[in-house]
Amino acid sequence: MTMNTPRLAALAAALLLTTGLGTAQAQTAEVLHWWTSGGESAALATIRAAYTAKGGVWQDTPIAGGGNARAAAVNRMIGGKPPTVFQYSVGLQLLELADQGLLNDIDDVAQVGNWDKALPPLIANISKYKGKYIAAPVNIHGENWMFYNFDALKKAGVEVPKTWADFLAAAPKLKAAGIIPLALGGEPWQERILFNSVLLGVGGREHYAKVYGKLDKAAMGTDTMLDVFKTVAALRPLVDESSPGRKWNETAGMVMKGTAAFQFMGDWAKGEMVAAKLEPGKDIGCALAPAKDTAYIMTVDAFAFSNVKDAPSKGAQTLMATVMMDPATQAAFSKRKGSIPSRLDVPDIGFDSCAKVAINTLKDPATHLVSTGLFGVPSAVSGAIDDAISQFWNNKAMTPEQGRDLFVKAIDRAK
Ligand code: GAL
Repeated sequence: MTMNTPRLAALAAALLLTTGLGTAQAQTAEVLHWWTSGGESAALATIRAAYTAKGGVWQDTPIAGGGNARAAAVNRMIGGKPPTVFQYSVGLQLLELADQGLLNDIDDVAQVGNWDKALPPLIANISKYKGKYIAAPVNIHGENWMFYNFDALKKAGVEVPKTWADFLAAAPKLKAAGIIPLALGGEPWQERILFNSVLLGVGGREHYAKVYGKLDKAAMGTDTMLDVFKTVAALRPLVDESSPGRKWNETAGMVMKGTAAFQFMGDWAKGEMVAAKLEPGKDIGCALAPAKDTAYIMTVDAFAFSNVKDAPSKGAQTLMATVMMDPATQAAFSKRKGSIPSRLDVPDIGFDSCAKVAINTLKDPATHLVSTGLFGVPSAVSGAIDDAISQFWNNKAMTPEQGRDLFVKAIDRAK
C-alpha cells in the first residue's frame, strides 16, 4: 500500500485521536443525512457521541427525506461546496457518484482496520470502487419485514399470516373490528417496499433474483408476475384514506397505537419503537413478510466522503470512518436504529429478537437479496421501478395485466 504524505499525516492524526494518545486539533466534519425521525436521530446520536468523544467536531446538516438529502449532497458536490461526509447506502448508485469523481476513497482506514475481514464479502465488495473503499457501511437493514400489533390481531381474532392469501383473508376481519388492516405511507419508495415484499413472497427468492438481479424480461412477463400484481391490487382497498404522502414513521405509529394492524417496512421502523420505549418482538410483533421461501432484502446504510482536498477535512473523514466502523459504535447504533451491524464480529448480546432473526437468516447466503432502492440496480432502473409500482398502486383502474406490462416496459426502457 502506498500513501502520500498528507494522507499519512491525516491518518496518523486520526489514529492518535482514536487511541487517545494525541491532542491533534479538532477535526470538523459537516455531516449531511436524512435521519430526522425520532429513532433515526437517536441512533445517529451514538455515532456523533463517539466522534466527538475522539475530539471531532460534528456539524449536523439534516435534510428530511432520503431523496431530498441525496439530491442535496450531489448538488453541493457538483457546486463545489461539498459536505465533508454524507449519508448514502452502498450499491450501484453510490458507485455512480464515485465514477463521476465526486468521492474520496477511505482505503487507508479500511486497510488499517482490516475491513475486508470484518465485513461480509458482498458488502465489502460493493463498498469499493476500483478496489478501494469509498464508503463506511454502518449496518444492514432488511426491507421485507412485517410489523404487527398483537392486540389488534387478538381483537379481530386473526393469526399472524404465513402467506399473502392468509393476509388477504385476515383483512376483512380486521376491518370488521374497526382496525385498518394495512398501514402504508403513500410515497413511491414505501409503495415499492410493500410491492417487493409481495414479489418475493409470491414469486420466491429465485424469481426476485431473476427480475431484479438479472432484469430478466421473460421472468417479468410470467404468470407468477401476474399473481404478484393481482395480490398487490387486492391490497389497495386495505389502506386508509390518509395514506397518500404520509411519512413512514407516522405510519409505524399507527401500528404502535393499534389503529392499524400491519406495516410492511424496513426494520428502521423498530427504531421508532425503541424510541417509544417499546421492545420490538415483544411489545410489537415482527416477522419476515409472508413468503414461499426465506430471504432477506438488504439495504446497507453507509456514509461516503466527498472529494475534499484540504488536510483538516481529510483528517475529519479519516476519524469519522474509523469511528463508524468501531464494533462498539456499530452495536450501540444498530440497537437504536433497528438494524444489525455490518461487521460480523459484533456479538448479538442485547439485540432484540427480530434482530436475532435477521442475524440467523443472513447466515445462509441463499437468503441474500438486495434492495432496488440504492443497492442492486442503476439509478435509472431504480427510478423506473418506483414509478411503475407507484402508478399501478395509485391508479385503481389499472388492471394487473396492465400493471405488469407497464413494469416490463418501464424497466426495459431504463436499462
Ligand atoms: C432508508 C435508510 C434507512 C431509513 C429509511 C427511512 O433509505 O436506509 O436507514 O432511515 O431510509 O428514512
